[in-house]
This record gives sequence, structure tokens and C-alpha cells, in this order.
Amino acid sequence: MMKITLPKIIQGGMGVGVSNWRLAQAVSRLGQLGVVSGTGLDQVLARRLQEGDLGGEVRRALAHFPFPQMAQRILDTLFVPGGKRPEAPYKPSQKHAIKNTRWLDELCIVSNYVEVFLAREGHTNPVGINYLEKIQLPHLPSMYGAMLAGVAVVIVGAGIPVEMPHVLDVLSKHQAATYPIKVHGAQPDTECHVVFDPAAYIEASVTLPPLRRPDFLPIISSDTLATMLLRKAGGSIEGFVIEGPTAGGHNAPPRGQPHLSADGQPVYGPRDVVNLESMRKIGLPFWLGGEYGSPEGVRRALAAGAAGVQVGTAFALCAESGLTPEIRRALIRKALTGKGKAFTDPLASPTGFPFKVAQLEGTLSEASVYEARHRTCTLGFLREAYRKEDGTVGYRCPAENVDAYLAKGGKLEDTVGRKCICSGLFGNIGLGQVLSDGTREPGIVTLGDDFVNVGRFCALENPDYTAVDVIRLLLG
Ligand SMILES: Cc1cc2nc3c(=O)[nH]c(=O)nc-3n(C[C@H](O)[C@H](O)[C@H](O)COP(=O)(O)O)c2cc1C
Repeated sequence: MMKITLPKIIQGGMGVGVSNWRLAQAVSRLGQLGVVSGTGLDQVLARRLQEGDLGGEVRRALAHFPFPQMAQRILDTLFVPGGKRPEAPYKPSQKHAIKNTRWLDELCIVSNYVEVFLAREGHTNPVGINYLEKIQLPHLPSMYGAMLAGVAVVIVGAGIPVEMPHVLDVLSKHQAATYPIKVHGAQPDTECHVVFDPAAYIEASVTLPPLRRPDFLPIISSDTLATMLLRKAGGSIEGFVIEGPTAGGHNAPPRGQPHLSADGQPVYGPRDVVNLESMRKIGLPFWLGGEYGSPEGVRRALAAGAAGVQVGTAFALCAESGLTPEIRRALIRKALTGKGKAFTDPLASPTGFPFKVAQLEGTLSEASVYEARHRTCTLGFLREAYRKEDGTVGYRCPAENVDAYLAKGGKLEDTVGRKCICSGLFGNIGLGQVLSDGTREPGIVTLGDDFVNVGRFCALENPDYTAVDVIRLLLG
């Protein structure tokens, strides 16, 4: 049973920093479910502090963080009063590994706490957080931080998060948790688990009650996956989000032999349609995502037995979204002038999943921008773990420098067309990597096919609309 009242609209988690605390708070205030993105939050927080935290929100949240010494360490290291010079680089970040440094674990705990705390500020409605199963390494300290801030729902996409329900149970009791990590070429003696013990982080002067165990909603693209998760999960699953191939972000690959359309997009067929009769039989609430951002979409979902819809694209383009106003308005202008296009790129994402890329000049969607970019890995969120010849675990990304990737045993064919999504997504929210010449890494924007329908919410002469406008229109 879900502990929260079922929302009709879930504002889908959108990383990096697109569904930030501001957007999620606006949605939750209206009684629907606002969801912050949990992806890359450690670096989002680090960069916001180096930009001077001009509105003071991060420092306000830190003042409530239950472990004051940890909060102070983060501030002492990262906060730059007034903000760094625009052309100055950000402090180098640490990349996640099976054994993180204590500093990085602390940054994960604190940053997830801050995002959820701010999204919950000023109202009492539930707030959710979204993680990607393809980015497993930061899961444990991140979820613990979000739970310290009282997150009500955890939603996980891009993978099969079978261990997650149990981990939520364990962390809610402040107990040590382990998480199995996918390591390519692993042998029985390969270290494949992240271990995290809250006791090592709770400060001596602090006594904490058990934490709320959030409801858990995996994102699935087939009813058989729902059944499998229910059978194998070691803890409770409270419902499902069912995402179709037109949704923004990563999409599940088509079933069976992959086929591409004439313009190079994956072709989905009848086997990719989720059997909603089976979902209804399971008896848990479910939400439908992927072109449901309209009153008709909500009606269609409810008529199909869903509790409601999960909407991303319509919220990504509203004023509270983390996208910079320039990028947001340029995309809206494109859509309103009939030039909007979201291309399902089968190669771009280092995850290997199809990734929807909004076509926009100056971003990595343009071949010339992609080719001009120097391939390097600075943030490393999408690195995959692999077993090195000496038996230890190494990390590589097919979007990194090709020679470096091949030297780590990667295959040349896996590097073709791969785009540095980590850096690109930070670029979209005004926190892009600063290069040695003071310029920033180009962005890469993801939006769903619903992108072209943004005219439901706004017009050319007034392209700015808000989360309130989206919810009002969707609920008629
Ligand atoms: C900008 C953007 C970023 C997204 N990032 C994520 C993400 O980090 N994790 C995730 O599970 N889904 C992500 N999604 C998918 C949304 O949460 C949502 O399920 C989807 O957008 C619904 O379909 P729609 O785009 O047609 O509304 C993203 C979508 C967009 C538009």
C-alpha cells in the first residue's frame, strides 16, 4: 500500500538538475507529486556553492542538516562568497568508485538532503526523488541523505533496481547497507559491492529516530519486468511507472532484433506495448509516461486503469525548470514555429540505451559541435566498472577519449557516436564544465516527442509558463 495519497500527476524526475527543488516544490504545493532529480546532485551542490549560492537556499538547507560538522566541512571547502569568476574552472570533482572517499559520500548525503529539504520547504505534501539504476555507485549515501530530509517516494529508471526496496528498509533503520554493482568481466573474486554504514557518519551528539521508509516506484517498460521485480525484490514495491518510447530522457531499447528507421532512430513495434491488462491484474497503482502531458492524455491513462500520468517534457520547458531561460525559450520557439524535433539517438548515451535528443543549435545535437569537442571524461557519472587484468576494478566510459577507452579493454565500435552526456547535461542548467580558455562545455538537451505540443501551454509572444499552468490544463 502506498503511504501517500495517490497523485494524478507525477512530475517525472529529470536530470541533471532540470527537475530541481524549485520545480518539485511548485508541483508538490499543488497536491501533485513533485520529484527532484537525484542524478549528479553531489556536483550540482558543489557547483551551486562555488557560484556563490546567491539566493542563500543551499546554506539555509545546510543550517537544518542534522550533522552540523559535516555541513560545515562542505561549506568550508566549496562555498565561494559572491561566486567564482565566470571564467574560473570549478574545483576538480572526485569520480564515484566502489570505494568512495569519505568526502564524496558526505557530499552525496548532504546534497541529496539539501535538494529534498528545499523541495519540501513551506508545505506538507509529499516529495519524491528519482535515480537512475545505470548510476549505481552513489545510490546508498544519496538515498540516505534524501531520507534524512523526509523524501516520501523513490522512483528509479534506466535499469532493474531489484535490490532497492530492501536497501530502503535497511537505511530507514540507520543500518549498514550493501549494493551490488555491475562489473564487466567480473570473476567470483571481484569486488562488486558498495558498502555504506550510516553509523560511520552520524555525529556523536545526534540521536535520530527511524526514518520514513519511502514508497518505491520502479520505472518499467514491460509488464513482465513488473512481475519479475515483485518476485525478486527483497522489500516492498508500492507501484510502477510505465514509460513508453516517446518519453523524454533514456528509453528502453526495442525488444528483439534492433531496427533503425531511415533517419536512424530505433523502431518500436507491438512487442514494446505494455500489456495493461496484466498490470491491472497485479493490483498495484501505476502511472503512464510518454506523451501523456495533455488533458486527453490524463483521461486516457485513467480510463486504462492507471492512477495517473508521469509527465516530463511539459515540465522541463516551464519557468521553474532548471534549464537556463535561454535554452528553454529557444526550444519553445522551435516548437512553436514547427521546427521542434526530438531525435531518438541509439548511440549518444554511454549507457547504451536510446536517448532522446532535442535538436538545438550550439548543443551536441549538431554534428559540428560534437566533432569539435575534445573527448574527455571529467565527471564520470556514467562510467562502467570493469575487471582489470590484475583483478582490481577499473572504470571506463565509451564517450571518453577513444585511446584511453581502448587501453582499458573497451571496444572501438562502442565509442562510435557516443556523447558526453554528463558534461552536456550540466551545461543545460548553467553549471557546465569551464574549459581552459574560459568557455563552457556545450550542452545536450533531452525532451520527449511531446516537445512539439508545448503550444498547449504558451504562445510565441509569451513563451513563459509555469508548473501551475501545466497542472491546471492537465486536470482540466
Ligand atoms: C529533460 C528530461 C530529463 C529526464 N531525465 C530523467 C531522469 O533523469 N530519470 C528518469 O527516470 N527519467 C527522466 N526523464 C523522463 C521523465 O521523468 C518522464 O518519465 C518522461 O519525460 C515522461 O514522458 P514525456 O516526456 O512525454 O512527458 C527525463 C525527461 C526529460 C524531458
